[in-house]
Amino acid sequence: MLPCFLCYISPLFCICLLIMLPLSLLCPSVCICLDYHTIDCRDQGLPSLPNLFPLDIRKLLAANNHIQSIPADLFLFYADLVYLDLRNNSLTSLEEGTFSTSTRLVFLDLSYNNLTQLEAGIFKSADRLIKLSLGNNNLSEVHEDAFENLDALQVLELNDNNLQSLSVAVLESLPSLRTVRLDGNPWICDCEFANLFFWIDENSNKLQKGVEEIQCILEDRKVFLHELSDISFSECKFSLSLTDFLIIIFSGVAVSIAAIFSSFFLATTVHCFQRCAPNKDEDEDDDEK
Ligand SMILES: *[C@@H]1O[C@H](CO)[C@@H](O)[C@H](O)[C@H]1NC(C)=O
Ligand SMILES: *[C@@H]1O[C@H](CO)[C@@H](O)[C@H](O)[C@H]1NC(C)=O
Ligand SMILES: *[C@@H]1O[C@H](CO)[C@@H](O)[C@H](O)[C@H]1NC(C)=O
Repeated sequence: MLPCFLCYISPLFCICLLIMLPLSLLCPSVCICLDYHTIDCRDQGLPSLPNLFPLDIRKLLAANNHIQSIPADLFLFYADLVYLDLRNNSLTSLEEGTFSTSTRLVFLDLSYNNLTQLEAGIFKSADRLIKLSLGNNNLSEVHEDAFENLDALQVLELNDNNLQSLSVAVLESLPSLRTVRLDGNPWICDCEFANLFFWIDENSNKLQKGVEEIQCILEDRKVFLHELSDISFSECKFSLSLTDFLIIIFSGVAVSIAAIFSSFFLATTVHCFQRCAPNKDEDEDDDEK
């Protein structure tokens, strides 16, 4: 392993080597390098991604391993990555910044992992992403800005997760969305779900498996969405959330305070007029006489 040894001595030398070495020497031993741009490391029981690839790799296949994390600098080194398949691994979280240089990424498969939440802007720089698979994870929380900037995204899979609710802002922030999967989640049909229900109703052509496949939990019973209608959520339109209540109370208080101040101001003005215009007062006195 001469190249690796030299890498420890001089990182610059290492970069030169990476660029000049023949493909066979750069290909990680557990992977198959199909061509200069495609590396196949699937089904190898890998606990992590091998760390020596040709720098201009475009397609990395690493499905069916036990990979626990995506190195935070992956896209810093392999900026040409267009296609990343990490399906069926052991990812539990995505580190902030991992995708901050993934500007060429078009296809990302993270399905069949153990992700539990997606934070705001996590894929922010992947603005060329067209397909994002997050199905069959354990997602229970998707921040409403999680897919911020994904203007090219056409296919989003969130099926078979642990989602009980999802802000419609998540879906509305995707201008190119054509296909979405939301089935296989324990949705709760409450008023929070109402907005998502109306979105699904209006965009049923975008649901790959159709509205029929989506179920939600209503009073401990699972119901199919097509069994529900706008009327099911009619009472939600009039129900007030805590924020609404606070706004109403606050505006009430604000109006009262404004009223007190304006009467005080009026009284002062009147008083001032009475004092500053003695002639008028005298006139009035005269009138009274
Ligand atoms: C996931 O990968 C394991 C090998 O790590 C394989 O045995 C299993 O069939 C794969 N499951 C799916 C759903 O692809
Ligand atoms: C996901 O986590 C659960 C429990 O935390 C574990 O049993 C399961 O094997 C994990 N799945 C993968 C693919 O790592
Ligand atoms: C899913 O995540 C929850 C915590 O959010 C955890 O308690 C549960 O074990 C996870 N399930 C699996 C199958 O990993």
